Amino acid sequence: MNANLQAKLTPFNQQHLLSFWDRLDDAERKNLAAQIERLDFAAINQLYRGRNESGDFRELANRAAPPPAFRLDNSGLKTGLGPFCAQHPPGLSGKMDPTPFSRAETALRAGEVGTILVAGGQGTRLGFDHPKGMYAIGPVSRRTLFQIHVEKIVAAARCYGVKIPLYLMTSPATHEETIAFFREHKNFGLPDEDLTIFRQGTMPAVEEATGKVLLEAPGRIALSPDGHGGMLSAMDREGVLDDIERRGLKHLFYFQVDNPLVDICGREFLGYHLLAGSELSTQVICKRDPLERVGNVVEVDGRLMVIEYSDLPDDVARRRNADGSLTIWAGSIAVHLFSAAMLRRLSRNADALPFHVARKKVAYLDDLGNLIEPAVPNAIKFERFIFDLLPSAANAIVVEIDPHEGFGPVKNAPGSASDTPEIAQRMMIAQHRRWLEQAGAQVAENIPVEISPLYALDAEELARKLPRGTRLEQATYFA
Ligand code: UD1
Repeated sequence: MNANLQAKLTPFNQQHLLSFWDRLDDAERKNLAAQIERLDFAAINQLYRGRNESGDFRELANRAAPPPAFRLDNSGLKTGLGPFCAQHPPGLSGKMDPTPFSRAETALRAGEVGTILVAGGQGTRLGFDHPKGMYAIGPVSRRTLFQIHVEKIVAAARCYGVKIPLYLMTSPATHEETIAFFREHKNFGLPDEDLTIFRQGTMPAVEEATGKVLLEAPGRIALSPDGHGGMLSAMDREGVLDDIERRGLKHLFYFQVDNPLVDICGREFLGYHLLAGSELSTQVICKRDPLERVGNVVEVDGRLMVIEYSDLPDDVARRRNADGSLTIWAGSIAVHLFSAAMLRRLSRNADALPFHVARKKVAYLDDLGNLIEPAVPNAIKFERFIFDLLPSAANAIVVEIDPHEGFGPVKNAPGSASDTPEIAQRMMIAQHRRWLEQAGAQVAENIPVEISPLYALDAEELARKLPRGTRLEQATYFA
């Protein structure tokens, strides 16, 4: 028995982690010892004790007001969003005030913009046994989510004549396969020096009834990713923030791996972010259903925050205004712009992001060493959410987008009721069909069309490139 480890564990009543020590070979002992050394058991015990205190969401939701926002119909905007808003009424409905566009282009041309993609999730709901970014979603091309995202970045870098680096966050479960996949595909055209794949941290799962850290094998603690909020400390630890500073990047466009429609580094969103002097901007959609599974952006006591769909009481979610519209309407699509300076500042503040508690089924070893697969949630996992930076951000703004132009999440297995690959593919086809028709093409009914960002990044570029008189009679992919 290892006396040092025993001494570390005993004050926190976690000695059971060494129950099978005598059975382990040297390599297993080394691994287990390293896992135990890395854990802060005092902090874990404290989190466990506070597991029922993490926010009274009903009370919070009752005080929540809709956020001031740049709405698609130009309503709902308050002055007070920053110096820009008082002077420039927004024109988001098609006729854009050129100012946000030109402001965004200046920042892009100056090479001030980088991108962050979070891809540490395990994609369990999709029923796909690889990193989700490897899922083939292109309706005609069968391009993967990773390829589609990276091509948008490569195309934008080419368009503005700059480097746009990608910082891609993985978890232990997705790291090696993601690296191998990018290597195999030559990073889909992104230069090596512009791609940083970094790993997020983990947290142990604890038994809900006792607070004991669970073992998943005799020599291995059950660890899971620490949530996308783990990005902040991982960026600091892995030198990503240093790289951002070295390159002189000022703004980071953040997105999730599961959304093939995301408008990466889109000028409108970036322009509003810059003109408002915002440290953290958030794209939202107007929720189509009160219980839609998106985070709710609200204002509480003058501060913006997100109440996750799972935390918002149903009756509050269903509240409506006199005109029938939802009171809590702003659904976060988890697309943000962060100021680099804010990320650096808050990365040094250990309490910037609280842990959320999730009750989950976690397989574990019982005292006799049998692997138990629980039928009901038995464990607590601790996760940080990146959107919890919102209340700490200066001049944060919310920008509504049309979901057809930027939100087609791939969450659930084919055939499910919502957020499936088929739905996302239909949305991709519909968007590209609209672009083609706007550019004057004739597109036969019911044929799938798809446009690589390397061919055209948006409707405008397509209109410039597409040969006049284009008629499409069969499935077509513009590469
Ligand atoms: C998420 C948001 C929700 C938003 C919705 C939009 C949370 C808690 N909720 O919901 O507010 O409306 O997306 O689609 O995020 N990830 C990591 N590491 C982790 C956990 C997740 O990198 O430890 C990544 C995933 O790879 C994915 C993203 O974060 O890219 C979202 O994770 P997921 O668990 O799918 O969140 P949702 O419940 O779908």
